[in-house]
Order: sequence, then structure tokens, then C-alpha cells
Amino acid sequence: MDTLALIEKAIEARQNAYAPYSHHKVGAVVVTDKGQIYTGCNVENCAFLGECAERVAIYKALSEGAKKIVKLAVVTSNKELSAPCGICRQVLREFNPKIEIIIANTDKKFKVLNLEELLPYSFGPESLQQGQDS
Ligand code: THU
Repeated sequence: MDTLALIEKAIEARQNAYAPYSHHKVGAVVVTDKGQIYTGCNVENCAFLGECAERVAIYKALSEGAKKIVKLAVVTSNKELSAPCGICRQVLREFNPKIEIIIANTDKKFKVLNLEELLPYSFGPESLQQGQDS
């Protein structure tokens, strides 16, 4: 699926966003190394313990057996494109330190980034293995 098609899928997923508190609707789509596609939207709640669209999509993929995610597209209605939050960056890092990240808006303006740009000098699974004490 090409970039524009992924953005369209994320725009569709954004329609399901449950964001009655922030009114900031977000849609996401992830592509696995096997080419499978999973969508997500942000889901808020009254205790302000909501979940970002990116993590919903990632967790859907993981819970269905995916091991590696190669691409993420995330869409908001922001004129100035906005990138995934810090927690989502760390979660993305876990499943592919080189993941391609497409940030886009509902006008289909987009920019392609990679995780190293968003989370330089990151902490990953290998960092834990190296630091194990006996
Ligand atoms: N949000 C996302 O879904 N993804 C991000 O990367 C940043 C923020 C959501 C969480 C919350 O529902 C709303 O946007 C406002 O922060």
C-alpha cells in the first residue's frame, strides 16, 4: 500500500476517534513486515487515561501476532504536521528501531521521517541485555 493509501486509511480510522475531552482526533495505521495492516484511533476517558492512536494500532498488530512493524502513518487535522508523542516513540522503538513514520493531516499533506530522527540515541532491548548484572 503506498503512502497516500495509508494516509487515507488513517483518515478513515480517525473517524472512530473517541476524543470528547481533548477534541483532538487522531488516526493511525501500521504495516507489519508481512504486509498486514492494522488501524487505530485515540480513545480517551473521563479519568484522562486515554490511549494514543499509534499505540492502539501497534497493540492491535502485536496482539494479532505481528512481531515487527515497518511503517506507521498518523493523521490529525493540524495544519502544521504533528509527530507521535514520546511514549509512542518509545513503543515504536521496541518493535523496529528503523521504522518509517509518515506524519500527515486530513488535507493529505505529509512528511516521511524515521524513528532515529524522532528518538535519537534511543534506549532499546539491546541496552537492557548489555547492562545485566549477575
Ligand atoms: N494523541 C495521539 O493519539 N497521538 C499522539 O501522538 C499525540 C496525542 C491523542 C491523545 C489524546 O487523546 C489526544 O491526542 C490529545 O493529546
